[in-house]
Amino acid sequence: MATRWGICSAGKISNDFTVALKTLPPEDHQIVAVAARKLQDAQAFAKKHSIPRAYGGYEELARDPDIEVVYIGTIHPFHISASLLFMNAKKNVLCEKPLAMNSREVKEMVAAAKMNNVFLMEAVWTRFFPASLEIKRLLAQEEVGEVKMVRADFAIPQMHIRRAVEKELGGGALLDIGVYCLQFICMVYNGEKPESIQATGVCLDTGVDETMVVTLKFSRNRMAVFSCSLAVEMPNDAIIVGTKGTIKVPAHMWSPTSLMVNGKETQYPVPEPYLPLNFPNSTGLRYEAEEIRQCLLKGLKESPGMTHADSLLLAELEDEARRQVGVEYSQDQQ
Ligand SMILES: NC(=O)c1ccc[n+]([C@@H]2O[C@H](COP(=O)([O-])OP(=O)(O)OC[C@H]3O[C@@H](n4cnc5c(N)ncnc54)[C@H](OP(=O)(O)O)[C@@H]3O)[C@@H](O)[C@H]2O)c1
Repeated sequence: MATRWGICSAGKISNDFTVALKTLPPEDHQIVAVAARKLQDAQAFAKKHSIPRAYGGYEELARDPDIEVVYIGTIHPFHISASLLFMNAKKNVLCEKPLAMNSREVKEMVAAAKMNNVFLMEAVWTRFFPASLEIKRLLAQEEVGEVKMVRADFAIPQMHIRRAVEKELGGGALLDIGVYCLQFICMVYNGEKPESIQATGVCLDTGVDETMVVTLKFSRNRMAVFSCSLAVEMPNDAIIVGTKGTIKVPAHMWSPTSLMVNGKETQYPVPEPYLPLNFPNSTGLRYEAEEIRQCLLKGLKESPGMTHADSLLLAELEDEARRQVGVEYSQDQQ
């Protein structure tokens, strides 16, 4: 039986997730309905993607008995309210990254998932790409020896995008794109809590971080460093350096379609989209969608590839990096 999806919000990433879902077999993934704050937005989205039902309000989607799992593609300050709405209606939830604005909100969401006995995952799609699974396999088999250093960068000019720079819309480089570097480092070091984190950065007049550079020290003198920025474009690569070799993601480290292992490159192409995408490689969102299907079929309440503990660790590290750079959201004061 197909996994029955509802889409919450009719924005840019919801478009790309919907296109990605349709690269998967329809007997496995079915989109039942889309909801947006305004009915006309939901209707336009439904028409564009041939989705049978459109709702003007998220509550109606929560009440739809045919929805099994909701994909939440709202901007970050609304991740918690939307997630709680759907989980309290006994819907499983895949919520865009960052899961929430801070660790306090993440804890509340995880508690709601447990209380309602539903599945919850932060949509860290990177982890489910074939190239990422290959990285995990290489690390587990110690193909590059003991990892001593990880470096990752993600910087794309986004100063013209309101949600990226306005504080009340959840702006800031760390929560928007730095999170991809941080999750990469945490994946390589297998969810271990670092011994220390040191962040420095540049803030905009709006009070959010334009650029951050963060250094992490793990046990046994293992290190990591990442940078993220809304102001410039960087090569956006990542490298894992071990005592016996290196693994490199040459570009698009958040959606890897190629890997260089000790200088030898392998390609992992994503499928072509049937409609234009807003972001590069977005048909690769199909891998996390299929992960959700497999978890639900097994009755799991979290994915082993991106656990609740993984999300909490990310949020706690983000809280600390923001504290050091001086980025405080209204959600931090509650
Ligand atoms: N996985 C990825 O590659 C990826 C890429 C980009 C973004 N993201 C994540 O996805 C989320 C959405 O990003 P996006 O670029 O798709 O954003 P977006 O298109 O600007 O907005 C997404 C939706 O958020 C709601 N929204 C926007 N402004 C709002 C406001 N002022 N008040 C209440 N709701 C508002 C709207 O929902 P309605 O349609 O219901 O009105 C809108 O359609 C972010 O959390 C971001 O981190 C992930």
